[in-house]
Amino acid sequence: MKLHHVVKSQQFERKWLEREFFPLTREMEKIANKGGSDILSGKRMITLFYEPSTRTRASFEIAMNLLGGKVVFSTENARQFSSAAKGESLEDTIRILNGYRPDVIVLRYDEEGGAKRATEVSRAPIINAGDGTGQHPTQALLDLYTIQKELGKIAGITIAMVGDLARGRTVRSLSYLLSKFSDVKIYFISPEMAKMKKDIKDYLRRRKVWFKERHDLREIVSKVDVIYQTRTQKERGALSKEREKIKSFCIINRNVLNLMKKGAIIMHPLPHVEEIASEVDLDPRAAYFRQAENGLYTRMALLKIILN
Ligand code: CP
Repeated sequence: MKLHHVVKSQQFERKWLEREFFPLTREMEKIANKGGSDILSGKRMITLFYEPSTRTRASFEIAMNLLGGKVVFSTENARQFSSAAKGESLEDTIRILNGYRPDVIVLRYDEEGGAKRATEVSRAPIINAGDGTGQHPTQALLDLYTIQKELGKIAGITIAMVGDLARGRTVRSLSYLLSKFSDVKIYFISPEMAKMKKDIKDYLRRRKVWFKERHDLREIVSKVDVIYQTRTQKERGALSKEREKIKSFCIINRNVLNLMKKGAIIMHPLPHVEEIASEVDLDPRAAYFRQAENGLYTRMALLKIILN
């Protein structure tokens, strides 16, 4: 599979994930443990972020550095610290940056469709690092890799995606990717106002993926192999009373830990706030810090595939 722009999860094939991407990611972990390599020597990356980020921007920039490439320009709050503040369009910014000879542009945009728009004017590969409530495909890659690494399989698992599913982009991208594996069962757990959007549910129906919608995590937690918890996206507007419901029905605390299977794991794209009680962090089934670390290895692999 030839990879140039990375815009959405649907573009990855299962065969490519299992035969090329996961093995290369394991190799990248070894390279990172040895202190890096020079396989991307001479390659230049721009990171252009219109929304805040810790994990995605840091792991992309460090991945490039560990492989011997350079981050030649980086903007962490482009709405304020780039000419977007003067009204420059995304397309013009991407055109201009292309003139400065990047080999890849990692873009986080604050509206759905931003990455796609960027690809329409960019010679350099665009990597979608999150576009509003759209998608976060590289997060889905690291999520999938984490499930494979932690559970030893993806096909046949039962997963509960929990929280603000209407506005979370990671659950959208992960749903698309999981649909490529057989016998995956998905529970969507959220209050009424934060339900998974229709386009994803229609897509899963078309692909005959088993899913059910519920409101209370505690009802189904003993059946699942993965709890994929998410944060209420306050920056995308208030959910008012619904936030309180997310809190009471969807929070992971000692009670939920007691109901979980011994071999199950808890994932979260992070940052986590009130939806996971602090006592959970110390439980070995809390995989979210290991998951975030996997982001470094998966992004190293992705950069190597795109740039080599
Ligand atoms: N998971 C994730 O996208 O985290 P950041 O917003 O910190 O990049």
